[in-house]
Amino acid sequence: MTEIEKIDRLREELIPLYQEHQKELLFHGWHHITFVTKKSVVFAKEIGANEFLVQSAALVHDLNYIVESNSKPEAGKELRNSILEKAGYTPDEIEEIEKIIMDECTTNRHSDISLESKALSDADTLFKALPVTPILFASKYIQENNVDIAKLAHKICAEQNHLMESGIYFYTDKAKEMYLKWAKVNLVLWGNVEECLKDEDVREMLKIAETSEVI
Ligand SMILES: [Fe+2]
Repeated sequence: MTEIEKIDRLREELIPLYQEHQKELLFHGWHHITFVTKKSVVFAKEIGANEFLVQSAALVHDLNYIVESNSKPEAGKELRNSILEKAGYTPDEIEEIEKIIMDECTTNRHSDISLESKALSDADTLFKALPVTPILFASKYIQENNVDIAKLAHKICAEQNHLMESGIYFYTDKAKEMYLKWAKVNLVLWGNVEECLKDEDVREMLKIAETSEVI
């Protein structure tokens, strides 16, 4: 089976699965997977990463959210492996894809990850940094993962500020050139969210909005 056939078969497995779960996957649904897959190929080309492995990893990188909300990639390993196997991937390819996904995870990543993990990481991170994401999808993340805005703001600042400071928020020059300005504004915004939540009156206003089902 060719690499193209494997990717086609993988999509055929994933599309109905994502359709079945689209009401729960408000943040990590097929819209996210499609975007991350497309951009990961762009970044893979840029840095000479293996496009087949990057594209395959992108397609299955968030299956853990189907298994369990607010979970880590490890939770999706079994489902990922069985879907990849059904789509005709060899055990070696499955192992490589698993490693790409584990290494690109925000809490695991560092400066020495593989080119494939770098390409996937930049695409996945770009979704977070898009100017539309805090406006349209932050509330969806809150709903999908059953967290509140304080927890989300804390998670973003705790996980992402040090990546920005150590110069690995993005890995590829293309992502740095085009999107770092968005990412910086995004992190300032979330820092401001944390700051404004220290105001008791803001917290009370949010409580009332929640009780009256405005938010
Ligand atoms: Fe993702």
